[in-house]
Amino acid sequence: MQAAREIAQKAGKLLKEYWVRGVKVEYKGEINLVTEADRASEALILAEIRRRFPDHTIVAEESAPKQVPGEFCWYVDPLDGTTNFSHKLPFFSVSIGVRRGQEMVAGVIYDPVLDELFSAARGQGATCNDKPIRVSPQGNLIESLLVTGFNYSIREEPGHVFDHFRDFTMVAQGTRRVGSAALDLCYVAYGRYEGFWERSLSPWDTAAGTLIVEEAGGRITQFGGEPFDLYGTEVLASNGLIHEDMMEVLKKPYK
Ligand code: IPD
Ligand code: CA
Ligand code: CA
Repeated sequence: MQAAREIAQKAGKLLKEYWVRGVKVEYKGEINLVTEADRASEALILAEIRRRFPDHTIVAEESAPKQVPGEFCWYVDPLDGTTNFSHKLPFFSVSIGVRRGQEMVAGVIYDPVLDELFSAARGQGATCNDKPIRVSPQGNLIESLLVTGFNYSIREEPGHVFDHFRDFTMVAQGTRRVGSAALDLCYVAYGRYEGFWERSLSPWDTAAGTLIVEEAGGRITQFGGEPFDLYGTEVLASNGLIHEDMMEVLKKPYK
């Protein structure tokens, strides 16, 4: 975890320099962007991991990721929130998660704009800038602030994304769509949001954040309450208290 913290902070500082001076944007799809900052951050992170842990495997967003066997595996999102970043919106992060065997053992997410470093090691709790954090004690959905995100595939496969957004907006205090799934998860862990849901995320989006939520006392499942699957398509994260109520909304049948 210490190595992941140092590496995430280094990469975050690099991202902030690019963010201040502006970057050239390229397109991976019609609305799916990548910038020189994503690539530079990933190169830095990969070099650091390889130098310190040459026998560990790495799954990183910009380097043709594939699931590779190995006792230790690092999941790297070098820049979570690229669309925000390219529009100069100050909401993006670096996300690094480490799995040992079948379980995530360390998660680190760094927001270089607010200089907030979220981290967790399994069984040791979660912190923000070294102070312990806990999920919100709010048990009523109507007093809860929720957050979600829309995957880049939304135009081709909208599914029930807009139905869910509407239905949560009608029963919660508010719903947000801010643009960094990794930070959304950290904010649930911190108690800023009571809940988060999103589909079609990738392992590098959720590996670190889901451990941080769990270690802050929250609950992580799929939409129907099934155990969370890093390679699955659904994430429901909450303070635990409103989890069943969120599941009810996600369960609603649509025509
Ligand atoms: C995206 C962000 C966004 C989420 C998308 C992700 P990226 O990651 O986390 O909040 O809604 O599904 O792909 O592309 O900025 O690393
Ligand atoms: Ca991402
Ligand atoms: Ca990314």
